[in-house]
Amino acid sequence: MSIQPVGQSFGRSVVDQKTVWIGTSWKMNKRPAEAIAAARALESFQPPEGIQSFVIPPFTSLRDVCSVLEDSALMVGAQNMHWEDSGAWTGEVSAPMIAECGAFIVEIGHSERRQHFGETDWTVNLKVHAALRHGLRPLICIGDTADEFEFGVSQETLARQVKIALHGVSQKDLGRVLIAYEPVWAIGSAGRPAEAPFVSEIHTKLRAVVREMAAESGVRIPLLYGGSVSQANIRDYVALPDVDGVFVGRAAWEPADFMTLVGSVSELVSRKIAA
Ligand code: PGA
Repeated sequence: MSIQPVGQSFGRSVVDQKTVWIGTSWKMNKRPAEAIAAARALESFQPPEGIQSFVIPPFTSLRDVCSVLEDSALMVGAQNMHWEDSGAWTGEVSAPMIAECGAFIVEIGHSERRQHFGETDWTVNLKVHAALRHGLRPLICIGDTADEFEFGVSQETLARQVKIALHGVSQKDLGRVLIAYEPVWAIGSAGRPAEAPFVSEIHTKLRAVVREMAAESGVRIPLLYGGSVSQANIRDYVALPDVDGVFVGRAAWEPADFMTLVGSVSELVSRKIAA
């Protein structure tokens, strides 16, 4: 199975249904020189068959990391964007700016943006449309808060977030969307990783939601899990039938750790794609 970077092929509508996605956002870490060094360390990395890897550097390093990884097997993404192409939006960057840097993916709606920077389901939807218009692959992050989890409304919250994020997206464009379920209570050093059976249940229900939305085209929207993924638990998540990959933070910031994590699910992924 050959996996091509998809950002360039604007017209491609259907993702490889069996690809397992493993990526990391460096968040607000790595100054430009550090980011370039990390990209160089990843440059010749060849993920095992069936795995598409990606890294998401800060904006200050996006162009450099894209150029170091241009001919590599990894895709590069951006951490956020504005929904307009240009204009008086001080401090923001747009989809065409990101695309011209050479990025293929853009992360939209991470809980840290929702929590600290006023991101809403509505702005997520605007950004998803803008990303798709410019040939980027939106990686839409959704997640329940600790309160929503406690009150037993995780599923309702996630269904709402997905339905609003994808509202008005054409069947063709649904083939370029990625979704990451990241429980807010599982993210970061204060988080606790979600139990695999819980993730399985959530993803099965999410699968039903996205399947219904993509009923006409039949595309399988990749559903990733994120939140305290580590060497200790990555296999538990990747083994789940409705988990199409993982989105990792701290445990993958060091290139060597990232490559070890990806390599550690090699056999599991070959069994999964052969099934
Ligand atoms: P973490 O971050 O793996 O450090 O918990 C995950 C994320 O925010 O995507």
